[in-house]
Amino acid sequence: MITSNISNAVDALNNGALVAIPTETVYGLAGSAFSEHAIQKIFELKNRPFCNPLILHTHSIQEVLKFVQQIPPNAMKLAEAFWPGPLTLLLPKKSIIPQIVTAGSHLVAVRIPNHPVALNLLKQLDFPLVAPSANPYTRISPTNAKMVDDYFGTDLPVILDGDICSKGIESTIVGFLDDIPIIYRQGAISVDAIEFIVGKSKVQATKNEKITTPGMSPMHYAPKTKFYIVESVVNFIQENQGLKVGALTLGKRDFNQPNTTSINLSITADLEEASTNLYKSMYDLDAMALDCIIIELFPEIGIGKSLNDRIRRASFR
Ligand code: TXA
Ligand code: MG
Repeated sequence: MITSNISNAVDALNNGALVAIPTETVYGLAGSAFSEHAIQKIFELKNRPFCNPLILHTHSIQEVLKFVQQIPPNAMKLAEAFWPGPLTLLLPKKSIIPQIVTAGSHLVAVRIPNHPVALNLLKQLDFPLVAPSANPYTRISPTNAKMVDDYFGTDLPVILDGDICSKGIESTIVGFLDDIPIIYRQGAISVDAIEFIVGKSKVQATKNEKITTPGMSPMHYAPKTKFYIVESVVNFIQENQGLKVGALTLGKRDFNQPNTTSINLSITADLEEASTNLYKSMYDLDAMALDCIIIELFPEIGIGKSLNDRIRRASFR
């Protein structure tokens, strides 16, 4: 059930139940990081393999220090620049963090979300929350409470409403190897913004490369409808008149084609706005029994790189 009542969420979490929580990136399926039972339920409900570790969510750097051995200087620079916010840091865990959270790794993924409801909730709890995105495994991450409700219905009694997620794509995951920042998942903070703080980074494997981070399988974030990246949306529609096409567009586009449903991600071609709208728009088109959904690559600048990463994964079969 969708509710705005934070006490309902506090009670449920204290009783070992799961709660969907809003964050600025996507909704999370949250449970106590100290309850192995709750964590098992997260994996079961999402149908997610246990080898895919979870992100720990808390409300302050002081709290983070209770769960990790240390925050090395470069990681601290990023924490100070971006927390609370869509940055996830991989840090050496303390033994207080159960192995099931990290899938056996000595590193735990941690973030402080920048959402008033999530922060308020986290401050009222005596434990941090683990929260993967609140979607069944391989489906599109939810960016509003209704999407979560559609996915899980009565299996998830408490869905805490926090309106639409302002960032709309997942957090950027950063670790360090010999002091070099490694971007394990491109996300709502651009690689450029990370590099501005800590210098040249390496972006880890994406599609067709060796997968070194669990959970970074190319099939993530996929709609059920065939999803194609095309050179030109207009040309594709003209060359495929027989198909019922869903088109995701950016910037001022004026085409009125029969058999086409189009959603504009941002009339002004603002990549931040497109990011906010991307998953919801993919989800809406996916519900319309179309033959395919098409999109052009975003400009490879700033957050456009993260958006391209997501649509490449969605188009991978
Ligand atoms: O924006 C976000 O990060 C959202 C919101 C809810 O905070 N959460 C999210 O969680 O996207 P999830 O589980 O859907 O994606 C987490 C990613 C997975 O690819 C997982 O493999 C990686 O983080 N991850 C988590 N812990 C890790 C660890 N200890 N080492 C390496 N990768 C890790
Ligand atoms: Mg996810």
